[in-house]
Amino acid sequence: MTMGTSAVLAGLGAWLPQRVVDNDELARRLETSDEWIRTRTGIRTRHIADPDISTVDMAVHAGSAALRSAGSDVVDALVLATTTPDYLCPASAPQVASELGLSGIAAMDVNAVCSGFVYALATAAGLIAGGIAGRVLVIGADAFSRLCDPDDRTTAPIFGDGAGAVVLRAGTRDEPGALGPFDLHSEGEHAGLLIVPAGGAKQRRSDDPREHFVSMQGTAVFRHACARMTESTRALLDRAHLSVDDVDRFVGHQANIRILQATAKHLGLPEERLVVNIGHTGNTSAASIPLALADACEDGSLRPGHRVLMTAFGAGLTWGSTLLTWPDVKPGSPR
Ligand code: UT7
Repeated sequence: MTMGTSAVLAGLGAWLPQRVVDNDELARRLETSDEWIRTRTGIRTRHIADPDISTVDMAVHAGSAALRSAGSDVVDALVLATTTPDYLCPASAPQVASELGLSGIAAMDVNAVCSGFVYALATAAGLIAGGIAGRVLVIGADAFSRLCDPDDRTTAPIFGDGAGAVVLRAGTRDEPGALGPFDLHSEGEHAGLLIVPAGGAKQRRSDDPREHFVSMQGTAVFRHACARMTESTRALLDRAHLSVDDVDRFVGHQANIRILQATAKHLGLPEERLVVNIGHTGNTSAASIPLALADACEDGSLRPGHRVLMTAFGAGLTWGSTLLTWPDVKPGSPR
């Protein structure tokens, strides 16, 4: 491994499907209400991909925006974080690369569900540190609404669709945009807390159509999310010899505003340092963190020089965190 080579953030892109579904629309067909969804989750609206838009399409839009933001189309590898690839086989990343005009580069999917973006950043940082790639396009894209039973009020209001992306380049540890350290974990014994039981290799088809959709034990997942994101943040800050006071912007996975608030409270982090965009996106799984970064850049709350802590938690269970000082990077426009 080439010691001293760090992955440095050099471009940012985001893309959301045009169709916006508000809570009242859901309340017309589900036994729920705008008030319940807003107060229990912080979600007001979510973007839902029309049937002719796939994960690959969303990833291409966000990826092109990140390449434009970086000012160069040259990358050596593409890492796509997704739980909703277009096909079970092959992975979606090679197709995304091809549609971006990058056919020939290394391309793979990473599946760590809602922690996928942080895992993909770590994978890309490893490719860079190992001298395997000099520039990597990292995309988080999920059409998670496709995994939700439209008649299930416990999941349909929570999830939305979207994609976000960053370009990483080789650089040095002390420059703005350098990622690290990382903290990554999993606990497979809790796989059943958030699962799509059928459709994979274990059970290709189930006679119960509900088994082809996601089922979630929401309260248990909520508790794990708060505890694990808190633990991971503390571990990461210890490793970086920093304290919570050194964190200017806390970009947590946007699963529920109450999870973010509880985590901030456990950490003693002032709430105004939380980046929150779940109100208009819902939980977009692997796209959540880059979409939050893009929104915070656009509204001016994330500025160059801010120390940013990103932390995510998802099915698996998986969780993880990383840090960077925000560089002079703004979201690019999608093609
Ligand atoms: O992306 C990473 C993984 N995902 C997450 O991190 C999500 C974590 N979990 C959560 O965000 C929350 O657990 C939920 C938002 C999913 C649910 O909130 P909660 O406060 O944990 O509610 P609950 O499941 O304990 O349900 C409370 C009540 C129940 O009724 P009873 O048993 O008290 O009569 C539910 O049946 O709310 C009911 N309920 C609803 N009511 C209206 C559940 N969903 C709905 C709904 N509308 N959509």
